[in-house]
Amino acid sequence: MRPKATDLTTAQALRAKLEAAGQKLVFTNGCFDLLHAGHVRYLAEARALGDALVIGLNSDASVRSLKGEGRPLNSEADRLEVLNALEAVDGTVIFEGDRATDLIAALRPHIYAKGGDYTPESLHEGEKAALDAAGTEIQILSLVPGKSTSGTIAKMAADDASFPRIGVLGSGTGSNFVALQEAILVGSLKAEVVLVLSDVSDAKILDRARNYGIEAIHVPPGDHPNRFSAAAQKETHDRLKAARVDLVVCAGFMKVVKEPLLSGFAGKLINIHPSLLPKFKGLEAWKQALEAGVPETGCTVHHVCAGIDEGAIIAQAKVPVLADDTATTLHARIQEAEHQLLPKAVGELLKI
Ligand code: GAR
Repeated sequence: MRPKATDLTTAQALRAKLEAAGQKLVFTNGCFDLLHAGHVRYLAEARALGDALVIGLNSDASVRSLKGEGRPLNSEADRLEVLNALEAVDGTVIFEGDRATDLIAALRPHIYAKGGDYTPESLHEGEKAALDAAGTEIQILSLVPGKSTSGTIAKMAADDASFPRIGVLGSGTGSNFVALQEAILVGSLKAEVVLVLSDVSDAKILDRARNYGIEAIHVPPGDHPNRFSAAAQKETHDRLKAARVDLVVCAGFMKVVKEPLLSGFAGKLINIHPSLLPKFKGLEAWKQALEAGVPETGCTVHHVCAGIDEGAIIAQAKVPVLADDTATTLHARIQEAEHQLLPKAVGELLKI
C-alpha cells in the first residue's frame, strides 16, 4: 500500500506536493464509525473530484459528543487505520470538537466534498466561512440510499433483542414498506423486517428492500395474469416460515392470499387497504370513493381471511375527500395516512 497521511503535517505536505504539480486535494470529514458500502462508494466519488483525498476524522470525544454515549463503536486509531486502507483515501487526520473548521483552515483543501441533503448554503456557518477563506470549491454528493451506520446498528439491536420478525408482501412501489422500515430505523417500532416478497419481478419494493440490506425475492405468480398460483402460495408460505417470520404484512400486495398461508399464519397475517372498510373493497378503492361522492374515506389495517378485504379490522384512519380531489391527489393523501397508520397498527399488534 502506498504511504498515507496520518496527521496534519503529512496531509499539508501532500497538499503542497499536489499544488506544485497543478493538482487538487479533495477533503471530506465525518465519524466513519462503522464503515459500510455507502461510505466506500461516497469516498470513491469524492476522490474522483480531484487528485487525492484526505479525510478529517472526528476524534472519539467528538463522536461521543455528537452521537451520544456508546459511540464511537470503533476507536479513532482503528477508524483511521480502516479508512487509510481504502484505495480512494490518501490520508486521514483526526480532529477534536464538533466541527472540522480548524482543520479546513490549516489544510486549505482545493475541493470540499459533503454528503447528504446539504446545499452549499445550509453548511455549518463556521465551516462555510473557513472554506470560503481557503478558496475551497464545495461539492455536494448524494448519499447511497439505505446504507447507514444507524441502520446497521438498528439491525444488530433487533437481532440482539430478538425483536419480532416481519415478512412483507408487496406488488408495487413499497411506500408502506418504507414507512414500516423507517419506523424501525428511528426506533419507534421494535421489530425487524427480515424478508420482502413480490409477485412482480421488477417491483420497486424489491429494490427498496435490497437498498436497506433486506432479503428481497420475486415469487413467480404462475401463468394466469391476475392469480397467484397454488405453487406460488406454497412457495411464499415456505419462504416466510424458513425466515422464521412472526407477522406477515401485505403492503400493496395485489394478489389474493390463500392456503397454506391463511392457516400457516392464522392471526399473524394483515393487510393495508385504501378505504374505510367495509366500504370500497377491491381494486382502486380511492376511485370508488370519488365516484360514490362520499365526503370522507381513509385506510384500514385488517386481518387477512379467505374473503377479500373482509377480515377483522385492527385500525383505521379517516381522510376527507376534497372538492377538487382527483384520483391521484386523493390516493396520495390516503397513502400519507397509511404511512402513519401501518407502523402504529403493527406496533400495537406485536404487543399482544
Ligand atoms: C396502498 O395504497 C395500499 O393501500 C394499496 O396499494 C397501495 C400500495 O402502495 N393496497 C390495496 O389496494 C390492496 N387491496 P405502496 O406499494 O406504495 O405501499
